Amino acid sequence: MNAIISPSNGFQLDIQLPGDKSISHRAALIAALAEGESMITNYSDGRDCASTLNCLRQLGIKIDETRNGLKIFGKGLKGFSVSPEPLDCGNSGTTARLLAGILAGQNFDSILTGDESLSKRPMNRIIEPLRLMGAGINGSSSGILPLTIHGKKLKAIDYSMPVASAQVKSCLLLAGLLAEGKTVIRETATTRDHTERMLPGITVDRHETSTDISILGGTPIAPRNMTIPADLSSAAFFIVVALLIQDSNIYLRNVTLNPTRTGFLEILKSAGAMISIENKSEKNYEPVGDLRIISQTGSFKPLNLSGNLIPQIIDELPILAVFGTRTGIEVRDAKELRYKETDRIHAVVSNLRAMNARVEEFEDGFKIFPSMLHGAVVESYGDHRIAMSFAVAGLFAEGTTKIMNADCVNISFPDFFKYFHSSVAMTKL
Ligand code: S3P
Repeated sequence: MNAIISPSNGFQLDIQLPGDKSISHRAALIAALAEGESMITNYSDGRDCASTLNCLRQLGIKIDETRNGLKIFGKGLKGFSVSPEPLDCGNSGTTARLLAGILAGQNFDSILTGDESLSKRPMNRIIEPLRLMGAGINGSSSGILPLTIHGKKLKAIDYSMPVASAQVKSCLLLAGLLAEGKTVIRETATTRDHTERMLPGITVDRHETSTDISILGGTPIAPRNMTIPADLSSAAFFIVVALLIQDSNIYLRNVTLNPTRTGFLEILKSAGAMISIENKSEKNYEPVGDLRIISQTGSFKPLNLSGNLIPQIIDELPILAVFGTRTGIEVRDAKELRYKETDRIHAVVSNLRAMNARVEEFEDGFKIFPSMLHGAVVESYGDHRIAMSFAVAGLFAEGTTKIMNADCVNISFPDFFKYFHSSVAMTKL
């Protein structure tokens, strides 16, 4: 399915967006490892989070979809059972990497597979430290899926993270939970900390230039009821819409305001955006609040983004690039973007060029000069965040924009186009 986007006037929205993708994955996995029944409401309705549920079901975890949410019948740390079929993680890096940590410590073998995109993404970043913990993992020498994981008794490690990745950190914390002893993970760049917030037996030591996260193996998990806050990475698209499309007024309810995720809001504020936060509270392990964004007529300051900030805005960089066509933006130290669902540096640069923007590409980022966008045919590259970023670009470009294979928005945000009303037409050709 392709999407044709026409320029739009004001957006008026007052919505509670679906549950945060990162938090949903973790809530389901941790509930499955808990001893007893957990209830999870506002679980993400995207395909990635469905992949996590499917894998858990294949591993013998009962999950009921009730009117109030998901009821997950946890079986304890080592209560999973062998899956006769390979576990298909679909497009979801979080499913593959976090599940690998859990499966490494079970007492049976598993096979993890994924779709074409996931099967190209680097897995050595989890294979190497899991092997240090004693895990038995067979995969191709290039370190990609499929992986065969031979469940073993794991031992604790002390590990300094070579890449800033919350997926790797979470994989190792989950493996550490199943290992004997105290596992310590040291990170020099802060990454999202949802796993640490939800798991028991964790200690976090913050130093000037690093954070050490320790987990005590064997700590049992109590079942819990939790409501997943709305996804700030999905909200990001509507925040940019509201700022750039005249006469917009958007109210987004109950959004995660976890400080490891709010870099995007801080950056927009530093560019001159007015974003007000109301009803702040802390529930279910996470700070949340409502966001009000009203379109602004003045100009914004240019953006320069690099260094340790990058891991905290990694998923928002494509939409920040689109925002940057108004302000000018330079992004460096972001080579990780090349290892996402697609090579997001290439995708952003080639789509923006197709839309008439002046762009320079670097190995680790891009520079975008303030440009008037023209409608064009652009590729989603099967990547949900690229499709949604360019749908937003289409709203303020001159002429119409066609996004090829736009149905990949289903990965994180199936209802994304519903909010575009008359500005979008979906076509098969
Ligand atoms: C995620 C971590 C990030 C992010 C991804 C979700 C997570 O990936 O890009 O969308 O839920 O832990 P990396 O850990 O590979 O940076």
